[in-house]
Amino acid sequence: MLANTIKNIKVATMLRYVFVLSSFVLVSCDSATPLYTPFPAGYGYMQNLPALQKATDEGDREIIREHGWKLWAGIMQRAENGEWPLWYSWPNTKAAFASDLETTTSNSTANASESMKSRNLDNIPEVNTPGPVYDIPRQVIDNFPNGICKSSTGATIACDGSHFLFNGDIMIPTESLSQEAMNDIREDQLYLKSTLDQLHQDKVHQIEVSQEFIVTKHMYWPVKAEGITAIPVWKNNFPTTFSGYAGYEFWDTLVGVDPSGDAVGQMRDVEFLYGVKNAAGNEPLPTVKANARVHALDNFYYHKISEADWEAFDQSDKAVLTAASYWANDQPIGVGDYLITIAMHINTKELPSWTLQSVWWSDQPDRGMYATNRPALPAAVGPWDHYLLTDSYAVPANEKGELDIAVNPYIEGVTHPIATSCRNCHVRAGWPEGKTAGFSSYQNPDCPGLLSYLTPASNCLSTLTLSDYLWIIPDRAN
Ligand code: HEC
Repeated sequence: MLANTIKNIKVATMLRYVFVLSSFVLVSCDSATPLYTPFPAGYGYMQNLPALQKATDEGDREIIREHGWKLWAGIMQRAENGEWPLWYSWPNTKAAFASDLETTTSNSTANASESMKSRNLDNIPEVNTPGPVYDIPRQVIDNFPNGICKSSTGATIACDGSHFLFNGDIMIPTESLSQEAMNDIREDQLYLKSTLDQLHQDKVHQIEVSQEFIVTKHMYWPVKAEGITAIPVWKNNFPTTFSGYAGYEFWDTLVGVDPSGDAVGQMRDVEFLYGVKNAAGNEPLPTVKANARVHALDNFYYHKISEADWEAFDQSDKAVLTAASYWANDQPIGVGDYLITIAMHINTKELPSWTLQSVWWSDQPDRGMYATNRPALPAAVGPWDHYLLTDSYAVPANEKGELDIAVNPYIEGVTHPIATSCRNCHVRAGWPEGKTAGFSSYQNPDCPGLLSYLTPASNCLSTLTLSDYLWIIPDRAN
C-alpha cells in the first residue's frame, strides 16, 4: 500500500468521505450510468497469485495467457443494472484527475484538454511517428460548442468527456479505474503535480499503488444503424522492422458490419475515412475503399446508444463521438447507432510487477500466436473469443536479452512504433517529466532501447520517482 511511501500527504479522513459520497451521488442521478460493479468472480482475478507469480518468474506463457484471457472476458461482462460492460460503471481518468473544484461542481467542460495522441507525440523526442491530421468537423463545433477545447499548441480539439476521452482520431477511448484505483489517486493526491514534486524531492524512487488497482484503456468504434460500416482490420500490414507511422488509416484490409444482418457473410464494397489530412496537413487522405466480407454485429462486443445514454453524455462526449463518426462514416451519430469494441488494454496490480494484457478484434480470431492458450469460459457472455490477445508480464528476457514485442495494433499503431512493448514503455512512467536525460519520457534518452529489458531497478531510471507503471499519473496530474 501507498501508506509506506507516502505518509506525509494523506488527505484528512473527513474529506475522503465527502469525496466518496459526492461521487456516489453523481453516479446515482445519471440514470444511464450503471451502478459500480466490481470485477466479477469466476475469472481468476486475484486467484492463485503465487502460481501466477511463479509462472511469470519462469516465463510460463500458458498460465500467463490464460489469466489474461480471463481478465478480458471478465471485464466485458455486463454491469449489474443496464446494458453496458462493467468497466463502464467504473470511475475514469477524467474524474480521477479533475481538480478539487471540478469534483464538487461536476463541470466537465472547464478543463482544457489535449488529445491523447498529441500528448503521446509530444513525449517522444526521437522516435517520432507523425500521424494524419484530424480537423474537428464544422458540424461538431457548431452543434457542441461546449465540447470544444484548445490544445496546448492552440489546435481546436474535442474536450475529454465524462465518459469518453478524445483520442484525436476515430477511436473513442475510456480509461476506467477500479474503485480502489480511484481511491489511491484521490486519497494520496496523485492527481496533483505538487504531490509528485514533493515525492521526488523526498527521493521516493517508486510510488506503490494498492493490489486491487485495475486500470484499462478501452476503444470503441462508431457504427451506423443503417447501412454497412467499414472497419479496418490488422493483418500484419507493417513488418516489425518498420519504425514509421502504422495507424489503421494505412491498413488496406477492411471488413463490413451490418447491424440489419441482411448482408452478413456476403462481400460488399465498403469505405471509411473522410475529412482527414496527411501528416503535413496540406493534402486530404483518400477515403479507404475495399471489397470486404460483412460481419454481424454480434461478432463484436457492441452497445446500442439509447435515449438515456445520449442524455447522460455531456457535450464533450457528444463532440468526441460525433467527430469520430464523421471521420469514419461521414455522418453524425446518435440514438439507435452503435459503439463496437475494437481494442482494449487491461492492467492489474495483482503482481508487484503488474499484469499487462491487451486485445483487439480480428476476423480470424483462431489464427496465429495471439490466439493461443484461450481457455473455455462457458459462463462468459459475448464474443470475447473473437479477439486476439498479447501479454507483457515480467517474464525473463528472450534469447536476444530483450523484451518480446507486445503492442496493440489499433492503439499503439496511431502513436508508437510497432516494434515496442507495453512493459518497456510503462516501466518508464515517472516524475519529473521531460525530454532530456534525468527526466521521464517514453523514450528516456538515458535508456533509448524500445525493447530493452527494463525494470524499476534499471540504472537509467534511478533518479526518477516512478509512478508504478502508470502513465496517466505524470500525463494527467495538474
Ligand atoms: C511507447 C509507450 C507506450 C506503449 C508501448 C504502451 N503504452 Fe500504454 N500508455 C502510454 C501512455 C503515454 C499512456 C497515458 C495516456 C493518457 O494520458 O491517458 C498509456 C496508458 C495506458 C493505460 C491507462 C493507464 C496508464 O497506465 O496510464 C493502460 C491500461 C495501458 N496504457 C496499457 C498498455 C498496454 C497493455 C500496452 C501494450 C499492449 C501499452 N499500454 C503500450 C504509453 C504506452
